[in-house]
Amino acid sequence: MMAEPALEAVGLRRRFAHPSGDVEVLRGLELQVAPGELVTVSGRSGSGKSALLALLCGFDSPDSGSVLLDGVPIAGAPPWHTCAVLPQALGLANELTIAENVALPLRLRSDIPKPRAKDIHARVSELLEELGIGELGDRYPLEVSFGQQQRVALARAVSGRPRVLLTDEPTAHLDAGSTPRVLRLLRRCAQEGAAVIVATHDDEVHRIADRRVRLLDGVLS
Ligand SMILES: Nc1ncnc2c1ncn2[C@@H]1O[C@H](COP(=O)(O)OP(=O)(O)O)[C@@H](O)[C@H]1O
Ligand SMILES: [Mg+2]
Repeated sequence: MMAEPALEAVGLRRRFAHPSGDVEVLRGLELQVAPGELVTVSGRSGSGKSALLALLCGFDSPDSGSVLLDGVPIAGAPPWHTCAVLPQALGLANELTIAENVALPLRLRSDIPKPRAKDIHARVSELLEELGIGELGDRYPLEVSFGQQQRVALARAVSGRPRVLLTDEPTAHLDAGSTPRVLRLLRRCAQEGAAVIVATHDDEVHRIADRRVRLLDGVLS
């Protein structure tokens, strides 16, 4: 018997208009992810993995169906500590330093007392070190490689210890040496209780999964 899901997708449908005709990318998709569970989603390019993650984090809305966080339907994008995302396009704030980017979810959190500057610094340093970019905190995103920016975006996603973590192709731009670091961090987030979803076509990533699902013809199997 599965624990009460942290994240649940019920009957998700999403259609996009294209010049050559509409495409229904998601066709009644169902998914449940328990706290502490790491699920990988595979599927060929264009199968709808990124579209699915956009719905799960509230960046986009389904035509029908719903997304529930701890049993409650989401309305718009939930706060970072509830559901954090590493999008394929990263979405870093280029006018902030790398350390400031990673600190954002900690600084923006309003439901608990604001963490002390030294605790924020410690958490940011820990994550950057763990991802092998400890020396880059004072640089700006556009001064480092795309693979390094991707690790910064992952550090930012996890810094606030989100209940649900969604990552889109988190190893796509990494050099081989960095992949194990990213996979270890994803595993640790699950171990600490997060429901983790990883969209990927990288076989190495599937090895860390508790459960693998495949997106095909708009549903998961
Ligand atoms: N915002 C959008 N507007 C129009 N079409 C979209 C949009 N987002 C995704 N699509 C279409 O949905 C399909 C799935 O895309 P995507 O989710 O990016 O696939 P994947 O991440 O699996 O490679 C593609 O045909 C893509 O063109
Ligand atoms: Mg994608």
